[in-house]
Amino acid sequence: MKKQFTALFAMLTIAIFSTAFAGGHNVDKLLMEVQIPENTIELPEGYVPTVMITGANRGIGFEFVKVYLARDYNVIATARSPGKADALNALAAENENLTVVQLDVTDFPRVDALAAELQGQPIDILINNAGISGDVRGQMFGNIDYDEFRKVLDVNVIAPTKIAESFYQNLLDSQLKKLVVVSSSEGSIAGISSPRTMVYRTSKAAVNMMYTNLAVQLKRKGITVAMVNPGLTDTDFVAGLPKKMLRPADVAAEDMARNIDNTWVENTGTFWNYDGRALPW
Ligand SMILES: NC(=O)c1ccc[n+]([C@@H]2O[C@H](COP(=O)([O-])OP(=O)(O)OC[C@H]3O[C@@H](n4cnc5c(N)ncnc54)[C@H](OP(=O)(O)O)[C@@H]3O)[C@@H](O)[C@H]2O)c1
Repeated sequence: MKKQFTALFAMLTIAIFSTAFAGGHNVDKLLMEVQIPENTIELPEGYVPTVMITGANRGIGFEFVKVYLARDYNVIATARSPGKADALNALAAENENLTVVQLDVTDFPRVDALAAELQGQPIDILINNAGISGDVRGQMFGNIDYDEFRKVLDVNVIAPTKIAESFYQNLLDSQLKKLVVVSSSEGSIAGISSPRTMVYRTSKAAVNMMYTNLAVQLKRKGITVAMVNPGLTDTDFVAGLPKKMLRPADVAAEDMARNIDNTWVENTGTFWNYDGRALPW
């Protein structure tokens, strides 16, 4: 009986996830062209840009690490539990320009301590990738799990805001000055055609609002802001979804790195879809 219940529950969860993330979303029809200006930033001779990526031990964050190592960047990869980040540690053993540092993005004293450790270190690209979906069972009206809601907001909205503030000087000290958050098309209000994963969606819409404000405020400092959508990607985040619905994580990271390449002062604040077009708010 218990086994049957567990199997039923597992099926139900997959069904909720599938409905949650697949189809019924209007954004595809609403994508817009993005103007991409000429790159006018010339890096000084011998300058090696640095990228910092949060949640880099697995999934999309780990693929971002590989993308920027292949470009010979210095990579600062943060992980909540570096002791368990085997794949990342193995990569660091082979690459002297990869540094693994401990960071739970919701631990503000640790965020401040890391910013102090990295004082004077330019960060050219700061990618706020760490994110959670929250338990999908507590995300429909009438059954909202408020503890879970707060947790999702902490990780997906408040942490990327705090990290932007804490590493602001590192961005200013760099050449490229790009501030990025991995958002989601699920955060597009215009794209809503059916209610689902309300908590997660709200968190991504909220971080878009915050980062759009940052784009406007920081433009005069030469800092550019990108919100990037990987599309439905094959990671633990959507475990259980049929593989044919999912994009490979390495492809998603490459696509978003291209979006970041194409982010300049003129188009700062773009909500990039992985295919190079802009998502509607
Ligand atoms: N996969 C998709 O289809 C999809 C679609 C749209 C957007 N996204 C976004 O893409 C980003 C990456 O997702 P993913 O697919 O790579 O998910 P994932 O495989 O579940 O990886 C999530 C990463 O975030 C880290 N993380 C979670 N909470 C953290 C915290 N409090 N402090 C530090 N790190 C934390 C995890 O660390 P631990 O290993 O320690 O848990 C892990 O490294 C997320 O922002 C997600 O919203 C994903």
